[in-house]
Amino acid sequence: MITAQQQVKDLLDFIDNSPSPYHAVKNIEEKLSAFDFKRLNETEKWDLKPGSRYFIVRDDSSIIFFVLGKKPLSETGYRILGAHTDSPGLKIKPNAVNNADGLLRLGVEVYGGPILATFTDRDLSLAGRISYKAASGDIASRLVRFDQALLRLPNLAIHMNRKVNEDGLKLHKQTELPLILAVAVEQQLSEKYLHNLLVKASDIDAHDILSWELSVYDTQKGVFWGDNKQFYADSQLDNLASCHAGMQALLDENTLNSDNTLVCAFFDHEEIGSESTKGASGCFLPDVLQRIGFAMDVDKEDYQRALARSFMISADMAHAYQPNFPSAYEPEHKVTVNRGPVIKVNANHRYSSESLSEAMFISWCEASEVPYQKYSHRADIPCGSTIGPMTSAKLGIRTVDVGNPMWAMHSIRESAGVEDHCYMIKVLNTFFSVE
Ligand code: CO
Repeated sequence: MITAQQQVKDLLDFIDNSPSPYHAVKNIEEKLSAFDFKRLNETEKWDLKPGSRYFIVRDDSSIIFFVLGKKPLSETGYRILGAHTDSPGLKIKPNAVNNADGLLRLGVEVYGGPILATFTDRDLSLAGRISYKAASGDIASRLVRFDQALLRLPNLAIHMNRKVNEDGLKLHKQTELPLILAVAVEQQLSEKYLHNLLVKASDIDAHDILSWELSVYDTQKGVFWGDNKQFYADSQLDNLASCHAGMQALLDENTLNSDNTLVCAFFDHEEIGSESTKGASGCFLPDVLQRIGFAMDVDKEDYQRALARSFMISADMAHAYQPNFPSAYEPEHKVTVNRGPVIKVNANHRYSSESLSEAMFISWCEASEVPYQKYSHRADIPCGSTIGPMTSAKLGIRTVDVGNPMWAMHSIRESAGVEDHCYMIKVLNTFFSVE
């Protein structure tokens, strides 16, 4: 029996090895291969066998993996868990290096909605993918990661920012976010500087590197904290914690031999609205579900019957109550860390939950002896959203929005409760395995 601490240790290792969505997907692929999942290519014909396991990667940072059930799709539908692989943060601009005032700095663009002030005074570095001309003449991609603290955004001393504790730290997105990289040496060609670093880190010849996508990440590793180590902290808990919980729930011998068709779909680009070839609002999931149907000779009507029988859990982190800020929360919906997964409800359908899908999730919590909580955002503060509403609208699949409670969502250092991670794995395991 794996303890809650061991599950969370595995999660922290997964996050620390996944400094970008590309790395997260690579790590998931490796884990799946150890469980006999076969890679399918979207350009090839799919030959699928009931009871077998498969995965598809789109553009290196979104992944769908599934276990094909032994029963016909029209009788079981798909059981889907959706989550996202990306987190808000900073991305490096193409012509990134700026040489001024004796320093080289890297220009960044803000990706999604991070709490920018949390990026100051951290041991930052870079990770992502490089696209290059391979020896065969084809264009290929390779992941790259700098392990050392390479970059920093030093805060302004309080002596120059006397009101920082009253007004908060505000950073101008264009002028105050460039990250310090090195002392400039005279006659250095600044535009070649980052290129040279990439050559060294990737082992690709300088003239073969054509383009790249790099995100800023925090090199500090995850920790357990609190007197009894009941909490944990790391970057990217939103939403790699949900990806990890889904993966652990599915990769269980009982679940893997299910009669039902079980699907995990983890998408990039959620933090920027999901509108892309690999985002949750794109065609990736509909394409894959349909192709599973084609490969199983399911006709159009039976495919629609399968969708009508399907269920999706959209798992994304939720806001835990922080008692220092009582006025930020809806007083009757204070969600507590370590008291179980949260069902998210919103009248304007920013979350996809409705009473029937909520009730089904509650029944799986009860069957797994897992406590649950309900969350509603304050009516006077705009509510966030998830991949739930867009995927359920596209596919017509009944969906519930859930997530584990966490503090400091979109900070570079988020934290959550150890017990909750185990609870989530348990209830997702029940979702995948109940008849
Ligand atoms: Co999220």
